[in-house]
Amino acid sequence: MGVVKSLRLSVILAKSPKHQPRTVFKSGAVQVLCLSIMTTSETTQPLVPSSAPASAKSPTPQPTQASAADLAAFDADHIWHPYGPIPSPVAPKLVESAEGVNLHLADGHTLIDGMSSWWAACHGHSHPKLVAAAKKQATTMSHVMFGGLTHRPAIELAEKLLKLAGPGFDAIFYSDSGSVSVEVAIKMALQYQQAKGHPERTRLATWRGGYHGDTRAPMTVCDPEGGMHSLWTGQWTPQVFADKPPARGATEEERARYLAHFDSLIDDSVAGIIVEPVVQGAGGMRFHDHELLVGLRKLCDKHGILLIADEIATGFGRAGDLFTTQAAGIVPDIMCVGKALTGGFMSFAATLTTADVARTISSGPGGGIMHGPTFMGNPLACAVACAQLDLIAEGQWREDVPRIESRLRDQLQPLAGSDAVADVRVLGAIGVVEMQRPVDMGLATAAAVDAGVWLRPFGKLVYTMPPYISTNDEVDRICEAIAAIVAAEEKRR
Ligand SMILES: Cc1ncc(COP(=O)(O)O)c(C=O)c1O
Repeated sequence: MGVVKSLRLSVILAKSPKHQPRTVFKSGAVQVLCLSIMTTSETTQPLVPSSAPASAKSPTPQPTQASAADLAAFDADHIWHPYGPIPSPVAPKLVESAEGVNLHLADGHTLIDGMSSWWAACHGHSHPKLVAAAKKQATTMSHVMFGGLTHRPAIELAEKLLKLAGPGFDAIFYSDSGSVSVEVAIKMALQYQQAKGHPERTRLATWRGGYHGDTRAPMTVCDPEGGMHSLWTGQWTPQVFADKPPARGATEEERARYLAHFDSLIDDSVAGIIVEPVVQGAGGMRFHDHELLVGLRKLCDKHGILLIADEIATGFGRAGDLFTTQAAGIVPDIMCVGKALTGGFMSFAATLTTADVARTISSGPGGGIMHGPTFMGNPLACAVACAQLDLIAEGQWREDVPRIESRLRDQLQPLAGSDAVADVRVLGAIGVVEMQRPVDMGLATAAAVDAGVWLRPFGKLVYTMPPYISTNDEVDRICEAIAAIVAAEEKRR
């Protein structure tokens, strides 16, 4: 088993950055070796002959009563993972359960979820209040269509969310994922301009280094170089891209120069500006100053265009404030929230907007918003989101996030002294170590797992967003895992 484990670790590949097509490990020999090790050494009931090449396996093997290794191998052959190939050269880790900050793996390991499962599980996994809300709602009504019908969880959530978002917001659209909420935000901006008599305003302006999701319209406003745009070149009208925003701590003069540059790009084709406020996430984990948002708000007002704030990653305290736009003292015309909206319990998102935008759209050519997914306003998700907002309202995060921030700062900052490290930055409950060169994903994952932590670096970025409930010891362990990755990278140089 030891040999199996180390061989498997040696070929572990991280999934690709959330914003980039995966760099696939193409060694067929190792792929077959890996699969064959799993089927010969750990399988009690092989699903397929271990000698069969992955691509030639039976199309529909049944994974019933199979061992963990069988299941992982089945997964690798049949289930897409983010940006991954089929068959996958590396079987994913099988998680049996998750509670608090911990992920319990089928192989007996318990790992701290240093990613909050991609920003989502802000209160940890299986929070009792969220579980109770889901159970209660499931016994009443798990879903009904939202066309012509409504329900108490949707109404209660709208009341809570609009109140939390603050004055200015008046209408809400529920959708099933962050990407869809951005699709809806973009539709809102275009429909608004149509209704205002500006059908020529069809483009969005944004800054480089952004990430807004994987469905079509969000992809068009992701970073045009680092993202997956090269695959789609020529397939859609290019959006307007300003340079990356100056890093946090810029001088007033630098910010003014940047905003003048942004301003110079806005013409009559632009319907609105869309940005991730304060934290650019999967496009590079960069932070910028709140003042830039004030500048963008002014630009939008000057040009008669809408400001869309994508707070899907930053919302609900992650960057230190409830919402970064609120902290900046501005109200965007449209705001997207997702991820932590249900505390990572299930996929759900919302697009909030003002009375002006909602009513203008409704008086326009379509007579309403042109979107309406089947699972819109799902009662289960709404009920869990209500419970999550109650936890946010209780306010424990207001103590936890600064505590985690200072812990991350104290422990990660010394890593800046390593020759392998280019930069260390911390904001709220987000810690980032940018390496000099892309990390070896297999080595990095192995180093983190050995330290008992689940991390998912991408490119040059090793980063963490711990659940707010993480104790100081748990934050320390996450930092130790990051230090272990840095040490592994130093050895590789
Ligand atoms: C800022 C931002 N916007 C949008 C999305 C897309 O959300 P989802 O993955 O739920 O579609 C993400 C996801 O990483 C994100 O970080």
